[in-house]
Amino acid sequence: MYRIVKKESLNPTVTLMEVEAPLIAKKAEPGQFIILRVDSNGERIPLTIADFNRATGTVTIIYQIVGATTQALDHLKEGENIQDFAGPLGRPTETEDFKKVAVVGGGVGCAIAYPVAKKLYEQGCEVHSITGFRNKELVILEEEFKKVSNKLVLMTDDGSYGTKGLVTDALKTLIESGEKYDAVITIGPLIMMKFVCALTKEYQIKTLASMNPIMIDGTGMCGGCRLSVGGKTKFACVDGPDFDGHEIDFDEALTRSSIYKPFERRAHEEVCHLYEMEVK
Ligand SMILES: Cc1cc2nc3c(=O)[nH]c(=O)nc-3n(C[C@H](O)[C@H](O)[C@H](O)COP(=O)(O)OP(=O)(O)OC[C@H]3O[C@@H](n4cnc5c(N)ncnc54)[C@H](O)[C@@H]3O)c2cc1C
Ligand code: FES
Repeated sequence: MYRIVKKESLNPTVTLMEVEAPLIAKKAEPGQFIILRVDSNGERIPLTIADFNRATGTVTIIYQIVGATTQALDHLKEGENIQDFAGPLGRPTETEDFKKVAVVGGGVGCAIAYPVAKKLYEQGCEVHSITGFRNKELVILEEEFKKVSNKLVLMTDDGSYGTKGLVTDALKTLIESGEKYDAVITIGPLIMMKFVCALTKEYQIKTLASMNPIMIDGTGMCGGCRLSVGGKTKFACVDGPDFDGHEIDFDEALTRSSIYKPFERRAHEEVCHLYEMEVK
């Protein structure tokens, strides 16, 4: 059992949790993830290690409430326990050898992008962060990004905060103004990463995308997380989650990500109904 030592709501649908997991905290690196199970009947879901503290033995996760399991997780309170918490899994993000990088995060993907930006900045790399959200209400980690970025461009789709437009608009403006990046690292919804990669391909800038396919074991045993990269099959949980963005078959990944939609909808309705009854 893994105790929740801190729980904080970052916006109406995104929550931060700090969890006591000393063995994971000891080894974790930015870009890696954990797989948790809320209780003994729960499914296994992957969440990125948003931060870790080797001294206190805690690991921070930041999750968006999108379905049954994230909703069940969000019903746990500070001091309560998560049944299983396995990690660190996956390969750390490649951060060596870069002098100037654009980190492009979208929505809750910014929680995954933040530790990567932080590590690059601490290594002396020039970091330009571009973060995108649908509107002002959904903005997360603005102050945190400011501290680890030489430049921060915050975008909202509707212009209610920061600059109006998409992250790709901001990236294009920076590239066209003459910024020369060794790499672009992008993390967010698949559709956003697809367009970021299409843009950087035009300018021939090396791009890493952090992929988030459906996962089960997270240790390379099932292939549930498979993707096509450069015409080859890769398992995101052991070969990734980061891949060369210009080689990923995003259309296949988009199709695979929606194969359980009817089941997910049903499970979510059941969980909502369960908690509704508890409230009554
Ligand atoms: C390596 C990895 C790291 C991740 N890190 C984070 C993180 O730090 N924070 C976070 O909020 N989420 C993260 N995710 C996504 C997270 O695992 C899913 O949001 C979660 O599994 C949804 O479970 P659910 O039962 O609540 O929703 P479900 O009922 O399973 O799904 C509800 C909705 O969310 C979509 N969805 C489901 N799984 C994913 C997914 N893997 N990626 C994108 N959309 C999905 C579904 O298509 C559906 O529309 C990560 C995924 C991977 C593979
Ligand atoms: S989740 Fe099973 S192999 Fe990756």
